[in-house]
Amino acid sequence: MPDPATELTSSAEWQALEAQRQALDAIPLRQLFADDPGRARRYFIEGAGLALDFSKNRITDDTLQALVALAQRCNLGDHRAALLRGDPVNVTENRPALHTALRHPGPDGITVDGVDVVAEVQATLGRMEELVAQVLSQARTGFTGQTITDVVSIGIGGSYLGPRLVSEALQPYVQNGMRCHFVANIDGTDISEVLRQVRPETTLFLIQSKSFRTQETLKNGEVARQWFLDQGGTETAVGQHFLAVTANGPAAEAFGIQPDNIFPMWDWVGGRYSLWSAIGLPVALTVGMANFRRLLAGAHAMDQHFQDAPLAQNLPVVMALLGVWYNNFWQADTHAILPYDHYLRSLPEHLQQLDMESNGKGVTTLGTALGYDSGPVIWGGVGSNGQHAFHQLIHQGTRLIPADFIIPLESHNPVASHHADLFANCLSQSRAMMTGKTLDEARAELVADGYSADEVERLAPHKVIPGNQPSNTLMMDKLTPETLGALIALYEHRTFVQGVIWQVDSFDQWGVELGKQLGQEILPRLLDDTAPGAGSDSSTDHLIDRFRSVRRR
Ligand code: F6P
Repeated sequence: MPDPATELTSSAEWQALEAQRQALDAIPLRQLFADDPGRARRYFIEGAGLALDFSKNRITDDTLQALVALAQRCNLGDHRAALLRGDPVNVTENRPALHTALRHPGPDGITVDGVDVVAEVQATLGRMEELVAQVLSQARTGFTGQTITDVVSIGIGGSYLGPRLVSEALQPYVQNGMRCHFVANIDGTDISEVLRQVRPETTLFLIQSKSFRTQETLKNGEVARQWFLDQGGTETAVGQHFLAVTANGPAAEAFGIQPDNIFPMWDWVGGRYSLWSAIGLPVALTVGMANFRRLLAGAHAMDQHFQDAPLAQNLPVVMALLGVWYNNFWQADTHAILPYDHYLRSLPEHLQQLDMESNGKGVTTLGTALGYDSGPVIWGGVGSNGQHAFHQLIHQGTRLIPADFIIPLESHNPVASHHADLFANCLSQSRAMMTGKTLDEARAELVADGYSADEVERLAPHKVIPGNQPSNTLMMDKLTPETLGALIALYEHRTFVQGVIWQVDSFDQWGVELGKQLGQEILPRLLDDTAPGAGSDSSTDHLIDRFRSVRRR
C-alpha cells in the first residue's frame, strides 16, 4: 500500500512549495512590501463579519497559488463536504464531527443513526431557552425562594475552556448582573476559592461532562454537593440547584441529578467543539438566550463562508494554509495568538486545546507514521501586556514565530484615548515584527542620539531587530456575540483544514488516556503506604515516597 505521508511530501505540489521557500529565503518582508505597493489590498479578505490582512506573510501570488494547489491535491473540498454532511470523519471512533449542526438554524436533513440531528439540537435549545427564561425572570428561584445570582460551572477541557472564553468575552451582554464562575482543576484550591464567593440559596451548579466519567469534574461535583448540604441545603434542594450537561444521562442520574435537569449532548460532538451545545449553558444563563443564539448565528455565518468562499478568499482556509507554510516549509515550531482585547484574554488557552488536542498527532488516518510535522505549539497572550513580557523573544530571539493579531475596531469601553492607544500598539507590533531594524538604522539612531563612534559600534548590534516575522491581523467592527461566534468557528475550521493537509484524525485524543490510566495506578499508592507499586520506575517511586513522607510527619 502506498504511504500517504510519503506521497504527500514527494508530490509536485509539495515540491513546488519547497521551491517557493528557497526563492523567498533571501527576500525579507520589507522588500516584498517595497516591491509591491498593491500587496496590502490584494492580501485582504473578509467573511462573516471578520476581516483578515495577511499581507505581512512571507508569500507572493505564486506562493498563495501553490498553497491552494496543495489543498486541492489533498481533496480539501471533498473532506469539507464530508465534515459538513456528517460522514464519520473521526475515523478512530467511527463518528461524525457535527459541531456545525449545533449552530445550524435548520432544517438541513443531516441524520446520525437515523436521527435528525438539527431537530434534536433545536429541541435542546428550546429546553435551554425555557430554563434561562425561568431563571432570568426569577420564576425559578433557589430553595429558599431567593433569586439566583450565581452560576458555578464544573467541567474541564472542552467542557470548560470554550464556555469560560465566551463568558468572559460577552461580559457587556450580562443580564441581571448574573455572575458565572468556573471550576476545572482537581487542585482543591480551585473549587475552594469559588465556593467562598457564592451562597447555596442563590447558586445553580452545572456539572458539565460529555462522558460524566472525568475524574476532576466528578470529584469537584461531589465536593460542591457536600458543601451545599453542609451549608443547609437538603437533598430535595440539591435536585433544584444541580444540573448536568452530558451524553451519559444514566451516570448523571446516578450522581443525583434529576432527569429534567439533565441536558443532552451527543457522541458526534467533540468536547473541544462543544461550547455551542448545552455546554454553553453557563453562558446562556448569564447573557440570556437571545445573545447565545446570536453567538450561534455568527458561527453559522462562518460555516457558510467556509463552505462557499473560493479557497483563496476563504478565511479559515487561507489561515490554515499559511500555518502549514510556516510549520512544514520554514520549520516554525510555534504559533502565537495575540488578541488585543481584554475580553478575549482566554482565547489563546481555548485555541491551545482546540488545535493541540486536534492536530497533536503522529500518524495518518491510516495509522502510518507522518514524515513531516503536524500541529505546532499554540501559545499567546493578550496585548498590550505581552509586549512587556514575551514579545522581546519574537523581536530579537532566534526563532521564527508566526503570530495572529486579533483586534476589534471599536471598544465596548471607550475610556479616554485607550482604544486608539491599543490599536496603535497592535499595529506597531506587527509592523516592528515585519520590518525590524537594520544595523545601519541602529547605528544612525545612536549617532543621532550623540553616542561616540566606539559606543555606536559597541551598542548597534544589540539594537538590531531582524524583522521578517510573519503575522496576520484579524479584525471585526466590534466584539459582539456574532463576531465572537464567527471568530471561534474560524479557528475550528482552520484546525480542520490543517488536519486534512496533514492527513490526521483531528477529532480523537488518545494521547490523553495514558496519563489517566497511570493516575489510577498512582493514586492508591499515595493514599495507602502499603499499596503495591509493581511496574513503576525509580523516579516515580521516589516522588511517591516524598509525598507519603509529608503524611508521616
Ligand atoms: O481528557 C481530555 C478530554 O477528553 C477532552 O477532550 C474533553 O474536553 C475533556 O477531557 C473533558 O471531558 P468530559 O466532557 O467528558 O468530562
